Amino acid sequence: MRRKTRRGGGRQLELTVESLGARGDGVTQLEGKPVFLPMTLPGDRVIARIQGERGGGLKAEVVELLETGPNRVEPPCPHFGPCGGCTVQHLDPAPYVEWKRDLVVQAMARRGFTGDLVQPLRRIEPGTRRRMSLRAVKQGKKVRLGFNGRESHLIVDLEICLLVTPGLRALIAPLRTALAAILADRDHADIVATETQSGLDLLIVSAAELDLQAREHWAAFAEAEDLARLSWQHPDEESEPLTVRRNPKLSFGGIAVEPVPGGFLQPSIEGEEILTELVMGLVPETAETIADLFSGAGTFTFPLAQRGRVHAVEGDERSLEALWSAARRADLANRITVEQRDLMRQPVSADELEGGDCVVFDPPRAGAKDQAFELSDSSIPTIVAVSCNPNTFARDARTLVEGGYELTEVTPVDQFPWSGHVELVAGFKRN
Ligand SMILES: C[S@@+](CC[C@H](N)C(=O)[O-])C[C@H]1O[C@@H](n2cnc3c(N)ncnc32)[C@H](O)[C@@H]1O
Repeated sequence: MRRKTRRGGGRQLELTVESLGARGDGVTQLEGKPVFLPMTLPGDRVIARIQGERGGGLKAEVVELLETGPNRVEPPCPHFGPCGGCTVQHLDPAPYVEWKRDLVVQAMARRGFTGDLVQPLRRIEPGTRRRMSLRAVKQGKKVRLGFNGRESHLIVDLEICLLVTPGLRALIAPLRTALAAILADRDHADIVATETQSGLDLLIVSAAELDLQAREHWAAFAEAEDLARLSWQHPDEESEPLTVRRNPKLSFGGIAVEPVPGGFLQPSIEGEEILTELVMGLVPETAETIADLFSGAGTFTFPLAQRGRVHAVEGDERSLEALWSAARRADLANRITVEQRDLMRQPVSADELEGGDCVVFDPPRAGAKDQAFELSDSSIPTIVAVSCNPNTFARDARTLVEGGYELTEVTPVDQFPWSGHVELVAGFKRN
């Protein structure tokens, strides 16, 4: 039983948690409205204080946990609770897996789809994330380095993060020391660290001064930590490499790609492999002409190029450059074409897609509303969607189905363990 000492106003009530919401908060009903109770689980009985409105419901804080539900386990990370990085570490794995799958089922149900097309969740274990995005702030002589706190902009100073790979974990303490030596009081920095095949690729985004001494400091840090590359970016400017000890290297479909500092990357190798396997399983063996929309640096382009000719379309110039350089180096310029295009403003039209065999589209969280309208009008026989947002996916899937496509299957993938985020891959066939 836990007692909170914090005092204050607000209604206090005894409540029993009924379900787990999409963001990982416990939910119950009060006077016809949902009440969101962070850090609780179904079956928990609590004394809660109502704090105010949230969405169409109420937000509450737990004053006392009177009784725990049947599926609570000890969270493995010492930062769980205050840290905003994870929301659901305290739930037994079996109901956790059901909850994650159900996030997709529920989002689809809101757009009129039944859950029977949704396959079991493909799991990815924590400790596999190869990308770590941290914030740092200097306060006096100390640097706080970590994620934002739960519903707060205060940085939780991390000792460890169980989500990321051991190599990234080992970088946290030396990076904090290195930042403390260079940042001035109240300076901020955003850090993106990526584990690549040739070593860690570090990007520091900060308005802090970068004089000769700071440059030498970071070169020495890269040497000491055996980084592949260390880049610096002033906010609103392009990043510049401060030191390249080895070219960072990723491999998509067996083709070596040099990543853009901080550019989009599937969060784990395991996740990338599952997504690729699912995408390739939905693309017909006979497909000769394929469009890869929102291609990034080519995660799917290169595996797809083993099957047919691929036209990769992407908005980010540097990611597309990385893709194109890799294609040329690998002698694939006859299999791959690239196009920089803003697919939100100027989606590829149904006419442009005429004669194609398959489209793969993998938009950002906002989804691909206008692109889905064009696809729904097209004669492409097979469409494969990859999405990190079940709500925008369900909206776009409804557009395709209204245009005459049949949704054949949806597979949720736990790309973001212990959070309320879930990825999915789905297939559509023209009726
Ligand atoms: C979820 S990522 C997928 C990237 C790639 N398929 C992969 O798996 O690595 C979404 C991609 O969409 C790109 N993007 C975002 N907004 C865009 C837009 N308006 N037009 C074209 N591409 C965009 C991003 O740069 C990013 O590469």
